[in-house]
Amino acid sequence: MAVRSLLFLAALHYLLGGQLAAAIELDPTSADSVKDAASTIVYGMMKYYTGNETGDTPGNLPDPYYWWEAGGMFGQMVDYYYYTNVTTYNEETVQAIVHQAGDAGDFMPANQTKTEGNDDQVFWAFTAMDAAELNFASPDSGPAGDGQPSWVSMGQAVFNLQTTRWDNSTCNGGLRWQIFTWNSGYDYKNVASNGGFFQLAARLARYTNNETYADWARTEWEWFSNSILYDNETHKIYDGTSDTDNCTQADHTQWTYNYGIWLNGLAYMYNHTEDDIWLHHLNGILNQTINTFFPSEYDDIMVEVACEPYGTCTTDQFTFKGFTMRWLAVVAQLVPSTASTIWPLIRASAKGAAGQCDGGTDGVTCGMTWNTTTWDGSYGVGQQMSALAAVQANMITIDDLKAPYTTDTGGTSKGDPSAGTGSDSGGSGSGAGGASSAVYTDTITSGDKAGAGILTALMLLFTLGGAAWMVIF
Ligand SMILES: *[C@@H]1O[C@H](CO)[C@@H](O)[C@H](O)[C@H]1NC(C)=O
Ligand SMILES: *[C@@H]1O[C@H](CO)[C@@H](O)[C@H](O)[C@H]1NC(C)=O
Ligand SMILES: *[C@@H]1O[C@H](CO)[C@@H](O)[C@H](O)[C@H]1NC(C)=O
Ligand SMILES: *[C@@H]1O[C@H](CO)[C@@H](O)[C@H](O)[C@H]1NC(C)=O
Ligand SMILES: *[C@@H]1O[C@H](CO)[C@@H](O)[C@H](O)[C@H]1NC(C)=O
Ligand SMILES: *[C@@H]1O[C@H](CO)[C@@H](O)[C@H](O)[C@H]1NC(C)=O
Ligand SMILES: *[C@@H]1O[C@H](CO)[C@@H](O)[C@H](O)[C@H]1NC(C)=O
Ligand SMILES: *[C@@H]1O[C@H](CO)[C@@H](O)[C@H](O)[C@H]1NC(C)=O
Ligand SMILES: *[C@@H]1O[C@H](CO)[C@@H](O)[C@H](O)[C@H]1NC(C)=O
Ligand SMILES: *[C@@H]1O[C@H](CO)[C@@H](O)[C@H](O)[C@H]1NC(C)=O
Repeated sequence: MAVRSLLFLAALHYLLGGQLAAAIELDPTSADSVKDAASTIVYGMMKYYTGNETGDTPGNLPDPYYWWEAGGMFGQMVDYYYYTNVTTYNEETVQAIVHQAGDAGDFMPANQTKTEGNDDQVFWAFTAMDAAELNFASPDSGPAGDGQPSWVSMGQAVFNLQTTRWDNSTCNGGLRWQIFTWNSGYDYKNVASNGGFFQLAARLARYTNNETYADWARTEWEWFSNSILYDNETHKIYDGTSDTDNCTQADHTQWTYNYGIWLNGLAYMYNHTEDDIWLHHLNGILNQTINTFFPSEYDDIMVEVACEPYGTCTTDQFTFKGFTMRWLAVVAQLVPSTASTIWPLIRASAKGAAGQCDGGTDGVTCGMTWNTTTWDGSYGVGQQMSALAAVQANMITIDDLKAPYTTDTGGTSKGDPSAGTGSDSGGSGSGAGGASSAVYTDTITSGDKAGAGILTALMLLFTLGGAAWMVIF
């Protein structure tokens, strides 16, 4: 079939989409309603995952999804079990995390290190920490068997490696976006990497009660809050800054997850230390989060303001609202004074997100635009993930679920403070931060990147074209 007629059918399908909708109706105060909706959305998400099939790689998503997104997706899967007690996906989730953590348990798998950034690695570490804090099925119970690093030791391994990458050589400190000098973005000190390190340190401090982690969280906060990335009067958070101009200019784009990553870390620090300095910044950033991403003209529904209104969100950006929804829910648990502010926002967003799940040939495919029940024509892992996070979080208030555990409150995952530093992991602390030995050293080519873009465009064409075929004939 000629490309032009495919395009025509795709356009027609998009126009018809709204009227054929089945939509998921959600009552965010009903356990049955929330669990039903979550089950439908999670099924739609896991359809993309083929890593558990023979010959495929556990923990990887097919193109165009980057490795870090798979890490985020399995975090939502750990949460799905916590929210619903449904065990259907647990085995493949354990398998995926254990496989990508690798023998050293540090999320530096040889297949990824060529392009891996500090933020990519820390998003997998968050998933391991979720598993520790929620007493998720132990890694030993997975197909990989006994002798695996524990969940919390995976978080510690990533923490230990990232401390060796703390870089005072420019901009008074901070972590770089990229781990390796040869990757573009090595000059960039960004919020996802630094906020990620802060959150990981804060979570380890609370879970293990070891002050070394809290000290590093303070070091990171000190750097960030004095950097151009944070305005401590308005509490605005920017995306990143380059050391090529000595970190004097910031990329001012506002992303939900850049706010969420700090909010969540601040909640852990406040819960752990009860020091009001953390509460002060948490309340300020929460206020700015609401001002920026929950405009009242959208009925308190979260909007990814930098791309959603323009229809320009990329594969990665479709996931951001999901992380932020999950993190806001945890903030409400760990800092009860914020709960009455946060829950109405999550409920409104969850209803909106479910209402946007009325696309595709199955009639329950989720788009991005939560303020309308007319499907926006977009679909993918990120859209499913974000809707899932918003919907399933409501179980916390419905069933009064327990907050993330610590070793003192029932967490069973046993730590290993030296994880990631031993000879087994190759974490020597030298060079580019003690990466595993088997590192690919060729630079990512622009061909790799263009290839991914072209593949996305083709997939979109085929999927939409195929869907239109079914609708019309
Ligand atoms: C992979 O997981 C899916 C559930 O998402 C399941 O239906 C399928 O049977 C699994 N495949 C294998 C080979 O285990
Ligand atoms: C790395 O890639 C190879 C070949 O595709 C695969 O067999 C292996 O499982 C992958 N390892 C990881 C940790 O993803
Ligand atoms: C899951 O089961 C545990 C007890 O095993 C219970 O405390 C928790 O409330 C249940 N969660 C849900 C969402 O039903
Ligand atoms: C980086 O500089 C800070 C002071 O700005 C100091 O406390 C810290 O020890 C230094 N870290 C390293 C790894 O040199
Ligand atoms: C903001 O940071 C500057 C520099 O660290 C400090 O002097 C000022 O007191 C801070 N303002 C607030 C409101 O915290
Ligand atoms: C970079 O900025 C710091 C202060 O933030 C200053 O101490 C340093 O001299 C500057 N370096 C250059 C090369 O301008
Ligand atoms: C919340 O934001 C509004 C609007 O920017 C501002 O006027 C107010 O002072 C902020 N409140 C706090 C506690 O930061
Ligand atoms: C919904 O959001 C879109 C994009 O963010 C915006 O253009 C539109 O005006 C909003 N619609 C309503 C009804 O608020
Ligand atoms: C820490 O979180 C727990 C669990 O939700 C909560 O009961 C406690 O009040 C929190 N502590 C502080 C200081 O907010
Ligand atoms: C606390 O963590 C640090 C850093 O990993 C480690 O060196 C130290 O042994 C830990 N202390 C305890 C009591 O586990």
